[in-house]
Amino acid sequence: MSHLHPTRRQALATAALLPAWLTASAREEEKPKIALIGCGGRGRGIVNEAAKFGNVVALCDVDSQHAADAAKTFPKAEVYGDFRKVIDRKDVSIILNATPDHWHTFVNLAALKAGKDVYSEKPLTFTIDEGKRLVAAVKASGRVLQTGSQQRSDAKFRLACEVVRNNRLGKLTQITTILPAGPAKPAPKAEKPPATLNWEMWQGQAPERDYSPERCHLWFRFWREYSGGTITDWGAHHNDIALWALGLDRSGPQTIEGKILAKPIEGGYTTIPEYEIDYTYANGVKHRCHTTTTHNIFGQELRKPGPGETGIGVKFEGPDGWLFVTRGKIEASKPEILKDAFAATDVRLPVSDNHMGNFFDSVKSRKPPLCDAEIGHRTASLCHLGNIALRLGRKLTWDPAKEVFVNDKDADTHLAREQRKPWTYEGV
Ligand SMILES: NC(=O)c1ccc[n+]([C@@H]2O[C@H](COP(=O)([O-])OP(=O)(O)OC[C@H]3O[C@@H](n4cnc5c(N)ncnc54)[C@H](O)[C@@H]3O)[C@@H](O)[C@H]2O)c1
Repeated sequence: MSHLHPTRRQALATAALLPAWLTASAREEEKPKIALIGCGGRGRGIVNEAAKFGNVVALCDVDSQHAADAAKTFPKAEVYGDFRKVIDRKDVSIILNATPDHWHTFVNLAALKAGKDVYSEKPLTFTIDEGKRLVAAVKASGRVLQTGSQQRSDAKFRLACEVVRNNRLGKLTQITTILPAGPAKPAPKAEKPPATLNWEMWQGQAPERDYSPERCHLWFRFWREYSGGTITDWGAHHNDIALWALGLDRSGPQTIEGKILAKPIEGGYTTIPEYEIDYTYANGVKHRCHTTTTHNIFGQELRKPGPGETGIGVKFEGPDGWLFVTRGKIEASKPEILKDAFAATDVRLPVSDNHMGNFFDSVKSRKPPLCDAEIGHRTASLCHLGNIALRLGRKLTWDPAKEVFVNDKDADTHLAREQRKPWTYEGV
């Protein structure tokens, strides 16, 4: 390159000789440029975390009010209503994806195709088929994708998984994941969408429906059209820990059987509010995932757990004891289960105390993050398999290597969903 066009390194070397304020601005230039797609509750949270590691230059939402709210914290960022325009920006290298679940994969595939690294919210996928495509796209692109199952970057959950992996409970026999019950509500009234919202684009691949606030921001989680209910919303956290402790987070269960404990109300939310799902794994461990009414969907305690109840979280049991872990609390049948030091020969898990920081470490090192695409996909799959078993009302046999049901073409039809044009994979 000619001296008239210095390289970035030459420019920085020159900057070292310049006044401090100029050097600082050169350093700012070097930081990765970040775009947030989906500026709702979670998006506005993670963008603050990411801003510690880069410059937030773009904010995108199909509701201009949500984008404007995010822009109050990042007034220099450009605001968009169409994520494709953000992904087209060559200077943006990082995409934060906090759209609703039915949008995750389409946005992630488009971002990877354009060479971006991605921090995507959980549940990583909306169907098992999406997950397979996403994992392949990450491999093909060599990009980094971190799934926002941030309990993996919490010391208590890591300790729980290390205790289980090192057989401190004896050989693990039973896992119980306890998730909040979902709401069951009657049919909402159709309304005119707010002037700030592009309802057509919000719906994306989902079948077209009349707008109602009960379908849209935050509450989308309880409609099958957009999400899986609490099994994917909270299962993406607690079932993720179950697979991590099992060491099966690149695999899955062998059988799945579900029981609906409370049905959705006709015309209202379409996800199943209360359920119990039994999984078995090749190593003989049994796993029950069930709902509780001790906590609400935000994880807040509604009542003290009664006898035999734990509240939401993950319980592990073996012949030598039990362990229960949830946000902010870990307890065991005997104190030494948690207190004893690990031996040099014990299995240890990768340490991260900052999930967003772990993602930016990977962006630099180009090594996979703590919760990469395959892990996010397998956790989401476990949850989707639970929903499929609940809906079919029969025991299912799963082949975790081939990622299909065993001799069950009918169940296989639930691995993907119909996509409304133009939001099909071909459109990415
Ligand atoms: N990791 C966690 O602990 C955690 C916590 C909360 C939510 N989440 C996840 O974050 C995601 C968002 O949840 P939320 O509670 O913030 O929901 P939300 O409804 O508050 O926000 C979603 C936002 O995405 C926007 N949006 C929809 N389609 C879009 C598109 N095509 N392009 C751009 N913007 C679009 C919506 O208008 C809305 O502003 C969900 O997948 C949820 O599971 C994760």
